[in-house]
Amino acid sequence: MSKKIVLAYSGGLDTSCCIAYLLEKGYEVVCFSANLGSEFSPSDLKKRAIASGASKIYIKDLRWEFAKQFVLPSLKANAVYEGKYVLSTALGRPLIAKYLVEVAKKEKANVIAHGCTAKGNDQVRFDTTVKILNPRIKIVAPLREWHLTSRESELEYAKSKKLPITATKEKIYSIDKNIWGVSIEAGILENLNNEPKDDAYFMTQSLLKAPNKPEYINITFEKGIPAALNNKKMDLVSLIEKLNQIGGRHGIGRTDLIEDRTVGIKSREVYEAPAAWVLIAAHKELESLVLDKETLYFKEIVGLKYAQLVYQGLWFSKLRESLDAVVQNTQEPVSGKITLKLYKGNIIIAKRNSKNSLYKKELATYGKKDKFDKTSAEGFINIFSMPFVR
Ligand code: ARG
Repeated sequence: MSKKIVLAYSGGLDTSCCIAYLLEKGYEVVCFSANLGSEFSPSDLKKRAIASGASKIYIKDLRWEFAKQFVLPSLKANAVYEGKYVLSTALGRPLIAKYLVEVAKKEKANVIAHGCTAKGNDQVRFDTTVKILNPRIKIVAPLREWHLTSRESELEYAKSKKLPITATKEKIYSIDKNIWGVSIEAGILENLNNEPKDDAYFMTQSLLKAPNKPEYINITFEKGIPAALNNKKMDLVSLIEKLNQIGGRHGIGRTDLIEDRTVGIKSREVYEAPAAWVLIAAHKELESLVLDKETLYFKEIVGLKYAQLVYQGLWFSKLRESLDAVVQNTQEPVSGKITLKLYKGNIIIAKRNSKNSLYKKELATYGKKDKFDKTSAEGFINIFSMPFVR
């Protein structure tokens, strides 16, 4: 009897070749595919996996678990990597890895495979998560060891193995898409002097084609959780998907980043994440209104570290859990409604409203109703400046 291996399968050229390669190595291949919002058809995936030689495939719609358990804590932390990446791919990997480990247990397999390359972050995220969750599982990454060095050779291999592949020689970009955003890399983007063309984008419209009229939207938060869009209560997945549509139409959420990979390489990645950027902007705005300044300052530091941990695949770590506990504790007063104006790639704050607002007009005003005690100012400054005056 051949040894079972559980493969993270996407249906694309790489992972289809992985099936054939693992069969050659004498494994029985059980596939696992997760839907985090990539718009694939389960029946098509199943057909392809089986036709490629897999003995079985598990397909799971994980959008809700992804939104609730991964995206939401990251939003509460306002986590953004190197200023431009909302971590869409990075947040998805530990969830997929968790299921790979579960399927392996169910199938009594002790080997897991994925189609990540030796130069990327995703192998680090998959391997690290699997090792943390079950150190006895062995990991095989065909792309780290096989002889197929180019897309052409992969296509030839696929042909010789009669794999059901529709891909062409010209694959322009490498894409990873889920509800929190799209990651786009490679192809002409490797040349830093090439601007991404319109064909690089999947969720967003170019600014030239975006409406000439601004659109107002509002988001209601309850304890840091986005609960309603335009006064309509929605579950998190529907709210994010709807916001991707609206924001995408206005060309919101495109970024272009020279990023520092965990494996030491600087790489150029283009992202689009309309819903994520709108939600982060609105959430931060509400926090500015209801949190005191020390909490806000500390949250910035936490968000920075949070993003680095997620990026490096350390989701299942003590520190990430601890940071989550801190962040969660700050969200109690983060309830209210933020109105935003979306216009040609811009997110403009229009209104803020919260019953927990710390803004006191009678203290801020320069008008007649001023209640600020002017007599306290001078003494306060004398003491405040003391440590700095020689
Ligand atoms: N650079 C991003 C990250 O490390 C995205 C990687 C996903 N790959 C892709 N096919 N574009 O999270």
